[in-house]
Amino acid sequence: MTTAWLDAAAADGLRAALRNKTVERSRPAEAGIAASVGSGPAYALVLAGVSLAFGGVSALDGISLTVRRGEICSIIGPNGAGKSSLINVVSGLYAADRGTINLLGKRVDKVRASHLARLGVARTFQNLALFGGLSVRDNVASGLVHKRRSNVFSQVLGLPGTAAENRRIRERAAETIDFLGLSAHGDQLVATLPYGLQKRVELARALVADPALLLLDEPMAGMTATEKSEMAGFVRAARAHHDLTVVLIEHDIGVVMGLSDHVVVLDYGRKIADGTPAAVRADPAVIRAYIGSTDGVGGEGI
Ligand SMILES: Nc1ncnc2c1ncn2[C@@H]1O[C@H](COP(=O)(O)OP(=O)(O)OP(=O)(O)O)[C@@H](O)[C@H]1O
Ligand SMILES: [Mg+2]
Repeated sequence: MTTAWLDAAAADGLRAALRNKTVERSRPAEAGIAASVGSGPAYALVLAGVSLAFGGVSALDGISLTVRRGEICSIIGPNGAGKSSLINVVSGLYAADRGTINLLGKRVDKVRASHLARLGVARTFQNLALFGGLSVRDNVASGLVHKRRSNVFSQVLGLPGTAAENRRIRERAAETIDFLGLSAHGDQLVATLPYGLQKRVELARALVADPALLLLDEPMAGMTATEKSEMAGFVRAARAHHDLTVVLIEHDIGVVMGLSDHVVVLDYGRKIADGTPAAVRADPAVIRAYIGSTDGVGGEGI
């Protein structure tokens, strides 16, 4: 997968910053965010010293970071930097070897993925993980499975409450499908949709449960510029309509700059920068991580 996310103008800016060594590390303006999230913990997510290794490979090496409630925080870094691993430990798919994870003030690093979903964590996957043979509607409704009160027996026996619950699930799925502009495709099988729309269905499935923390692993990968900008609009709209915090992995620097309040940069499992989009883009450590010893800034590679 290419990580060509630096255009020529950005490269000029990076070179200038590298020369001047002026790196502003302040955190994003918080006034707007604070106004939108109401009361409760200020941080949606706090990681302290989180490490994860696969055999001899250190995917995450002592990662500490904070994500404020209501923020859109992008995680960037070269291929293999540990970005997906970070989302995998936060969503409970992998257990960290060391370190602590706090979600909205609760320690969750020993909590399983299914329980984390009930606590308000939703995610999408780098490689689509949809049910291709099911309709858009059913795929989106599957994002509510952990919220069901009725079990398979009450469903089969048609016990009281089951029908009402099914109706609520259908209504909530329909609302989310509408919110993401997918109403015309509700009955279509997901496998028959173009790739860009499938990515949007995955976002719908994550949003349907009204999560507090949305983890998006390359939601715009493989999309056209128009599709990316539509997707960025939906992520922004989702944040605006809910008390939602977003952690987003993305390679396209244009998208990252336009969408993020806060950017964290990983390289070889370590955090090498953390700050506003502008500060991170101008950070010499980030430039070195992407450019390495090559001269090809503005072409392939960053
Ligand atoms: N399940 C796994 N088993 C073994 N090694 C893994 C596994 N998952 C990740 N790794 C390794 O951990 C490191 C970090 O991988 P990760 O997928 O988190 O990177 P990434 O930043 O998401 O990369 P990309 O941009 O290519 O998606 C890599 O060296 C990868 O090979
Ligand atoms: Mg990845």
